[in-house]
Amino acid sequence: MTTAALIVAAGRGIRAGGGLPKQWRLLGDRRVIDWTLEAFRNPCIDHICIVLNPDDTDIWQEFSAAPDIITAQGGSDRASSVRNGLKALQKYSIDKVLIHDAARPCISRSLIENILLSLDTTSAAAPALAVTDALWQGDNEQVIGTQDRSGLFAAQTPQGFDFETILAAHTSHTGTAADDVEVARAAGHPVHIVSGDANNIKITRPQDFARAAEILQIKER
Ligand code: CTP
Ligand code: MG
Repeated sequence: MTTAALIVAAGRGIRAGGGLPKQWRLLGDRRVIDWTLEAFRNPCIDHICIVLNPDDTDIWQEFSAAPDIITAQGGSDRASSVRNGLKALQKYSIDKVLIHDAARPCISRSLIENILLSLDTTSAAAPALAVTDALWQGDNEQVIGTQDRSGLFAAQTPQGFDFETILAAHTSHTGTAADDVEVARAAGHPVHIVSGDANNIKITRPQDFARAAEILQIKER
């Protein structure tokens, strides 16, 4: 079985602020992307594709020269970045692909392995955590309603799929999608929920860097 990790890193990280897009910023002595890549440079992953923004010219040079990395060009939204990455992987005869946000550097090897294990018996599997906080609807900082949280999950990545299944789903998908599970489900494929990891946070806002550093047990400089 041939496996691939598809890491989307073409976003601009607007909500995280700070000048450089978040995946190129330092967490301790290494960049966010370096922590993410370390987890996927793993014997159970045969190929790694990184999707990059055409504006990040120095980064393109760096990863084009990396012998174990396949590069692909990002699109205007996450779904189109994933689609371009899947197309770049097509010629490598991939059976299973794990699609992951570059902005989740605390991903553990055990979660990667659990998703791959699930793909032995299902064509789509993704990690999530049951929602535990109360959920409100709000308007102008006033609570205007509450929502039943039972049966609700907070989604994570890597989201794993049979390669041909997700390639076909992405190729036929029109419109936006929050993630690849949404794309797979829109094409009619059931998705198995794997137990997520509370430490597998997505760096989204400025304060998330400190939390990620804490999780990685390093000190920020
Ligand atoms: N991403 C991508 N191509 C895009 C948009 C997002 O490859 N056109 C990637 C990001 O680099 C990130 C992941 O998708 O690793 C999750 O997206 P998000 O957290 O929203 O990152 P950004 O879009 O970069 O951040 P923001 O929405 O705050 O600008
Ligand atoms: Mg975004």
